[in-house]
Amino acid sequence: SKGNHRHYMLKEIYEQPIVVAQTLRSYVRRLEGEIAMPAADFDLTAVNRVTIVACGTSFYAGMVAKYWFEQFARVPVDIDVASEFRYREPVLEPGGLALFISQSGETADTLAALRHARQAGQTIAVVVNVPTSTMAREADLLLPTHAGPEIGVASTKAFTCQLAVLAAFAANLARAKGRLSDEEERRIVRHLSEAPAALNAALAYDEAIEAVAAQIVNARDVLYLGRGPDYPLALEGALKLKEISYIHAEGYAAGEMKHGPIALIDESVPVVVIAPSGPLFDKTVSNMQEVQARGGRVILISDYDGVEQAGENCLATLTMPKVHPLIAPLVYAVPVQLLAYHVAVAKGTDVDQPRNLAKSVTVE
Ligand code: F6R
Repeated sequence: SKGNHRHYMLKEIYEQPIVVAQTLRSYVRRLEGEIAMPAADFDLTAVNRVTIVACGTSFYAGMVAKYWFEQFARVPVDIDVASEFRYREPVLEPGGLALFISQSGETADTLAALRHARQAGQTIAVVVNVPTSTMAREADLLLPTHAGPEIGVASTKAFTCQLAVLAAFAANLARAKGRLSDEEERRIVRHLSEAPAALNAALAYDEAIEAVAAQIVNARDVLYLGRGPDYPLALEGALKLKEISYIHAEGYAAGEMKHGPIALIDESVPVVVIAPSGPLFDKTVSNMQEVQARGGRVILISDYDGVEQAGENCLATLTMPKVHPLIAPLVYAVPVQLLAYHVAVAKGTDVDQPRNLAKSVTVE
């Protein structure tokens, strides 16, 4: 049931602190400061390449994970949307791990890609929310998310749980390959363990986010910008907005704006900039200022320091809790989800059952 919530989507957004904590319990031992993984019956140390394949929101979780696999484990990662994967005739060599991410575990494109990778001799790992699904059954290594049933068509809590699993798995691969010191492992576990409280703190800004949504309701187009592991969040924010509010939205890598899309900027196009403070902040802010210099109206989502430093000329700012960059993609999922949600509610669309969409896409 929806409980006290008006829509399943809202209920599921609010469940995130609990379900992420629940998921993390299977992947980290907080007190010991250790990653804990389901046993793999293959040799993780032999993995020399990871190929990530998924669709939609699950694909964006994979894009974030690519940063983590490369950063922690120094293993090269290839990533594709499932509907494109087979047709580019990917080079899949021995020692390759193919990683599929899916809430439902039934998405036809992802399943076809999984079977293709299996044929090509890849070891198959699956991050899936439905433990009885086809993908779960076909995995060599099953990495379940424990988000519970997701009813709203727009994926929310599955996404943050996928990120939690993927961060732990990337750290685990790094450890298996001897590329993670005990100290680094403890640090990663500590940051991940901080995610549920940080998600709670982000949810506390719901009313502020609702007020910002009023600035977007009448827009025809909205752009989302992010950099590094927060670039996929820009894509996710745009996907959420378009699928439930039917407003045209695009996500771009912040630094890519100047290569074309900046031509779209005028005062009628709100630009949502996702920029937690951290090593990439200054670069993203200079991209944001390029937008502002052309009359663009910016909604900056950052933390207290970021908003202090760069919030001055913005149409609106949203202040998230200050978190380690590792968990920023989880925490910043909350404002992009809530922003889309409140815009859709204000427009009066069917939030849980958007037009033309189904919860699980079982055709290729
Ligand atoms: C977006 C959304 C879809 C799904 C995609 C993959 O809110 O729900 O983009 O993420 O259809 O579905 P799964 O994860 O079930 O494979």
